[in-house]
Amino acid sequence: MTTLAILTAAGSGTRLGRDMPKALVEVHGLPMVLHAARRLAASGVVDSLVVTAPVGLATVMSDVVTRDPQVTVPVRVVDGGATRQESVAAGLALAGPGDDVVLVHDAARPFASPALVRRVVAAVRGGHGAVVPGVPVVDTIKSVSVAVDSRPAGVFGDDAAVEPVTSTPDRSVLRAVQTPQGFDRSLLERAHAAGASRAADAHATDDAGLVEALGETVVVVPGEDAALKITTERDLVLATFYADGSGDRP
Ligand code: C5P
Repeated sequence: MTTLAILTAAGSGTRLGRDMPKALVEVHGLPMVLHAARRLAASGVVDSLVVTAPVGLATVMSDVVTRDPQVTVPVRVVDGGATRQESVAAGLALAGPGDDVVLVHDAARPFASPALVRRVVAAVRGGHGAVVPGVPVVDTIKSVSVAVDSRPAGVFGDDAAVEPVTSTPDRSVLRAVQTPQGFDRSLLERAHAAGASRAADAHATDDAGLVEALGETVVVVPGEDAALKITTERDLVLATFYADGSGDRP
């Protein structure tokens, strides 16, 4: 029985404002996707990798990941889709007969540690069908009504886009979730099949959400600061702290 890791790298990364896909942007001299692939391989619990590439860049992505001596597991590259969900589905279609556990990991989280990868896989192999790393939320989170037309005119000035607060969830039960997320392969396949048949505007932002939509249980294991997601220039600066090894505990 083997573990397949799908490394999603097909996003454009427009919020980073570079003229290349985010996964190929370098941190500490290496593309993000390579940092992520190295750590997945170093975990010792991943048997093969499928990388989802932006359309037209499969060869570039393949050159980056397959030629690196630290990526010691077999790598295949597949064209990603228009959404993250479609990219994961394209990767999942390449699962082999022996792959009973599937990890889904974002190249945009290049410094998730090998120890975190092992923790997620151990929880899946221990009997949990869907496992996500999560960290406690430090901010108080408000849920708001996004119908800004209903804002009270004149309270904050005519141009202020105020958003009425609808609730304040109890912070102690909130977790900010990360990747890699780990799944029993057949459960993930069922979740994606059901997700694909829903409306296009209902695409999930993570795979655990698709499993939840089936009514199946998802569990959270402790995440880590190093697994931060790189979205903006500020995140890139922060990530160099982990890239130099300060935050990376294999
Ligand atoms: O855009 P965002 O940062 O939320 O993307 C999360 C991850 O999903 C990134 O690693 C990105 O490359 C990947 N992705 C993908 N296919 C898409 C969109 C995003 O593989 N169509």
